[in-house]
Amino acid sequence: MSRKIVVIGGTGLIGSKVVTKLRAHGHEVVAAAPDTGVNTVTGEGLAEVLQGASVVVDVSNSPSFEEKAVREFFQTSTGNLLRYEAAAGVGHHVALSVVGTERMSNLPYMRAKIVQERLIKESSIPYSIVQATQFFEFVNAIADSATAGNTVRVPPVFIQPMASEDVANAVARVAAGAPLNGTVETAGPDRFRFDELIRQALRARNDPREVIADPQAHYYGGAVTELTLVPQGEARLGQIRFEDWLSPATAPR
Ligand SMILES: NC(=O)c1ccc[n+]([C@@H]2O[C@H](COP(=O)([O-])OP(=O)(O)OC[C@H]3O[C@@H](n4cnc5c(N)ncnc54)[C@H](OP(=O)(O)O)[C@@H]3O)[C@@H](O)[C@H]2O)c1
Repeated sequence: MSRKIVVIGGTGLIGSKVVTKLRAHGHEVVAAAPDTGVNTVTGEGLAEVLQGASVVVDVSNSPSFEEKAVREFFQTSTGNLLRYEAAAGVGHHVALSVVGTERMSNLPYMRAKIVQERLIKESSIPYSIVQATQFFEFVNAIADSATAGNTVRVPPVFIQPMASEDVANAVARVAAGAPLNGTVETAGPDRFRFDELIRQALRARNDPREVIADPQAHYYGGAVTELTLVPQGEARLGQIRFEDWLSPATAPR
């Protein structure tokens, strides 16, 4: 059944892929973002774009990760979205979040995502929350954030990253289905030790930085334990393996 689906953040890394996939399934899909005249923070264009929509997929992200800015972004944009969705009669709100948000409440970004998830759960709109692990595309940024001089220091905890392509598949599949009124986890096909993952990523780019497994090291300034970053339940696994994604011949970048 073809439905009108509005993808908030539909021009972003995940959003643009979700839009393509849902269109390929025959749905009427609108990519919504400030560039297309829809701003969830100010409310601009929201009432118009949601007219006749059955499903809203929120894969937007805050332009700033500074503590106050990111909290205000997710609080205001999610609050506005849910209010306008109720007025428009939207029947399914799908949001992308992060595996382990609740275990990482020591990180400002995760606290903002927890607020987003709570607003969704407390609203009257049927919903599905997809929690994904770290994107492959994000691994270099993680390495940079853990770098001092020529050394990358990370805790040797488990991490199970995934390709943005697989994230988009998981989100599109959920958006095309009935509301779960719950949370599903999605992750990559392989589980790594954090230091091994970073070593593999750097090696692929001939990056000479040394990677040190340090149990005291933090993840973006927050303490993490063995299982903080990986799914707790039965996660939907992606298909793309990190080593294949890294290989220039096959990398879908
Ligand atoms: N990075 C990870 O490893 C990871 C892991 C799990 C989950 N996630 C989640 O994945 C989601 C999407 O991430 P991404 O990397 O695809 O983001 P992204 O590429 O930065 O795209 C963000 C999108 O949000 C739009 N946007 C920003 N401000 C907006 C506003 N006020 N109103 C409407 N749209 C707005 C942007 O439009 P403009 O470009 O026009 O500003 C863009 O289309 C995030 O919610 C994040 O929490 C990320």
